[in-house]
Amino acid sequence: MILQRPFLLPETLHLSEEERRRLEADYEACCEQLPPDLRAHCLDNYGVDLAGEYAGQPIANPFGKASGQLALNVRQVQQDVEAGLGFVVLKTVIAVDAAGGQSMAEWAIPETLMRVEPIAGSDGTPGWTVTWKGRGWHESFESYCDFLGASLDAAGTTAPQGSFPTVIAASVKYHLPAPGETEFRRGEYEHTTRALQAVWNARRSGPLPLEKDFSPTLAGDDRSREQEQILLWLRRVPGLVAAAALPLPDGTTPGVALGMKLMNTRFDLDFQVEMLRVLADEAEGPVAFVVYANRLFDPEREFEGKRGVAYGGPDLSRRNLEGLAALWAAVDRGALQRAVPPISATGDVLAGRMAVEYGLLGASSCQMHTLFQLRHTEFGGRMRNLTARVLHHLIFDPGTGLLAALLHLGHERGAPVHWRDLPAVGSAWRRATGGE
Ligand SMILES: Cc1cc2nc3c(=O)[nH]c(=O)nc-3n(C[C@H](O)[C@H](O)[C@H](O)COP(=O)(O)O)c2cc1C
Repeated sequence: MILQRPFLLPETLHLSEEERRRLEADYEACCEQLPPDLRAHCLDNYGVDLAGEYAGQPIANPFGKASGQLALNVRQVQQDVEAGLGFVVLKTVIAVDAAGGQSMAEWAIPETLMRVEPIAGSDGTPGWTVTWKGRGWHESFESYCDFLGASLDAAGTTAPQGSFPTVIAASVKYHLPAPGETEFRRGEYEHTTRALQAVWNARRSGPLPLEKDFSPTLAGDDRSREQEQILLWLRRVPGLVAAAALPLPDGTTPGVALGMKLMNTRFDLDFQVEMLRVLADEAEGPVAFVVYANRLFDPEREFEGKRGVAYGGPDLSRRNLEGLAALWAAVDRGALQRAVPPISATGDVLAGRMAVEYGLLGASSCQMHTLFQLRHTEFGGRMRNLTARVLHHLIFDPGTGLLAALLHLGHERGAPVHWRDLPAVGSAWRRATGGE
C-alpha cells in the first residue's frame, strides 16, 4: 500500500485486466437501470458482499442519505427506496414539549437558497460544498410525525430474499443548556421522543432509529464555547433520551436506537477524540451508534450578509479520517475503557473509495448529503432517479467506486474483502504497521 495520510488506499487501484474489463462493462450496462437486487448482483458477479449495518439494522449496501434538504418530503424518500438506498435519515426536527414550547426554536427557521459550489481543500484537492443559511424542519412537529409515518410506509418492510428494506431514521435537535446552565428541558425530550416512537411502533417492532443532531451551526454558537459544556451534553443526552423513551414490550430493550451525530468543534483533534471517549465511557444511557462527523464551521466566512457558515469538501474528509485514526490510536494505547459504538460516517463521500477509507477506520455505513446535491450531469448514469445515479457512481465507477476499491483490497489480502470486513482489515493494518 502507498500510504499518504490520512488515506490508506493508493491513488491508483490495482485490478486485474479481467476485473477492470468486467467492471467497465457493468458500469455501462447499468447506466440506464440498476440491477433490481444490487447486493445479489455484486455477490454473484464479484464475490463481494455490500451489506452493512446502520442503527443496529442490516442494510443492503453501506450508503444512506444524511439528514438535510434532500430528505424533506416523501417523494424524495420514495426515490431513495426505489433506487435501493441502504437508509435515509429524515431532516432534523427541533424538539417540542407537550405545550408546543421549543427552546431551540432559533434552529427552526425556513430554508434559504442553497449554493452548491466548488471548494478546494487546504492542500489544493478539488471538491464540493453547499453554502446556505437554513437550519431545521420549520413546519409543525405534527407534520414531521406524518412525514415519518409516510416515509416508513414508503420504505415498507419487505425486500428481495437476501436483501433488506431501506431503513428510515428520524433526526432531532433536543434542548441543550448553554454554559452556566445545567437544566435540560426534559419535557421536550419526553414529548418529542414518545410522539416519534408512537409513529414508529404503529408500523415496526424493535427500537426507533433516531439521530441526535449536534450541528455545525451549534459548533459556531456561543453554547459550545466551552469544552466542559459539550462533554456534559454528550454524557447527559443519552440518559435523557433513554429516560424519555417508552421501553419495548420486553421491558429491557431501549425503545430508541440512539445515534449521536457529532460535530466538528472549533477545538483540536484531541478534543474530538475526547468527545468520542466520553460517549463510549461516560454516557449516562445507551448509545447505539455514532455519526462522525458533521461539517466544519468557518466563523469568518460570509454568506448573504451572515458571518459564520458551515462547509464541507476535502478538508472535512481529511479531518474526519484523522479524527477516527486518532480515536483508534487512543483505543490501541488503552485510553478507552469501553468499546467504541458502531460508526456511521459522514463527510465528503463523493466516491465509493472514500467510503472504503471510512470503512477501514471502522465505519459500518456512510451517509452523504452534498453528493445528492450535485447536478445530474456530474454522473455517468442516465436514470431519471438521481439516487440511482448516485448509487451507480458510488458502486460501479471503475476508477473510484466501491467495487473497485474492494477488489483492490481483495488482491492485497489474497481473499475477497466484503464491506463489513473493512474495520478488521484496517485494524490489522494498523497493528502490522504500528499505525504509522
Ligand atoms: C444544506 C444542508 C442541510 C443539512 N441539514 C442537516 C440537518 O438538518 N441535520 C443534520 O443532522 N445534518 C444536516 N446536514 C449535514 C449533512 O447531513 C451531512 O452530515 C454533512 O453535510 C456531511 O456530509 P456531506 O459532506 O456528504 O455533505 C446538512 C448539510 C447540508 C449541506
